Amino acid sequence: MSVASRAPAHIRSLSPYQPGKPIAELSRETGIPEADIVKLASNENPFGMSPRAKVAAAAALEEGARYPDGNAFALKDALAKKYGVDAAQLVIGNGSNDLLEIATQAFLSPGDSTVFAQYSFAVYPLATLARGARCIQVAAKNYGHDLEAMLAAIDASTRIVFIANPNNPTGTFLPGSEIEAFLARVPQDVLVVLDEAYTEFLPAEKRYDAMGWIARFPNLLVSRTLCKAYGLAGLRLGYSVSHPEVADLMNRVRQPFNASIIAQAAGIAALEDSEFLQKVAENNRHGLARLTSAFTELGLSFLPSSGNFVTVRVGDGAKINQALLKQGVIVRPIAGYGLPEWLRVSIGLPDENERFIAALRKALA
Ligand SMILES: Cc1ncc(COP(=O)(O)O)c(C=O)c1O
Repeated sequence: MSVASRAPAHIRSLSPYQPGKPIAELSRETGIPEADIVKLASNENPFGMSPRAKVAAAAALEEGARYPDGNAFALKDALAKKYGVDAAQLVIGNGSNDLLEIATQAFLSPGDSTVFAQYSFAVYPLATLARGARCIQVAAKNYGHDLEAMLAAIDASTRIVFIANPNNPTGTFLPGSEIEAFLARVPQDVLVVLDEAYTEFLPAEKRYDAMGWIARFPNLLVSRTLCKAYGLAGLRLGYSVSHPEVADLMNRVRQPFNASIIAQAAGIAALEDSEFLQKVAENNRHGLARLTSAFTELGLSFLPSSGNFVTVRVGDGAKINQALLKQGVIVRPIAGYGLPEWLRVSIGLPDENERFIAALRKALA
């Protein structure tokens, strides 16, 4: 009997997460120089890191031989001040993906279940299955969350409900009032993970303050990231805000040094750089408008998006994706989400968006 066969069945049956294709990989495969490749596949920040975060990261590199502060005192202090929460409510993660994992580690036993929407973030089922727990996937409504159906799907085994708002990969958005009303009806012993990875891209009229609901709903966990709008995807940094009892449990199971010394320093500087954040959001608004008007012109339907990406129906997603790759443009096929006719495209800089539109036009011809 092999050692691999001794791994639990729920681990052996997992399918790994499919990330966006790295630029270097496409360059190796096609011979296209890396500098000529446009990657719009992983919802990364097209401006890179904020200049202030870069300076802080470079300075922190000097301390690279030291362990980071496992309790992330300075970063938590910055977050607590920015959002008016207590440091005891915070958990820091190696990206917000880490927080999703930590939440399942802290709250799921084999046989428990989680509830999430069809066409929602791929890590929810992965993290659930890795704990030997069961997924209750609820049919989407207009490619987004059907909160009424999700509520009805909760059963005695349910420990976590995941809600991504805006959602990835469909970009759909739920008004804050609907989530608040949902929280009022969810059993209080079920943790609701509100994943706000793309919240910084929301226009003012769509914003809501979920952190302010925690006092009323101690079963709410708000998860956020600095990997998208703040541009720290490669450094990995996220945080969650919850009731201190929930944070305490999560802090017991996370790795003691799960946020690097460089990520913590860059994160503190990034949080202060509101000018950069504004520039990023503005570019996103313009880019999203440009891509969607091009889709309309090309006769393609798309899902109205509240994130830094847009999902477009191209017919044969795999074929169009191949044709784009040949032209040095990487986007994200989402057949794995059950959407084989669609491609998800991250918003880039204006010239990257134009490269994509031109390549798409050629691919469709
Ligand atoms: C909805 C959602 N949540 C969480 C994440 C995790 O991002 P990160 O770990 O980079 O913070 C992503 C990344 O794609 C996402 O789309």
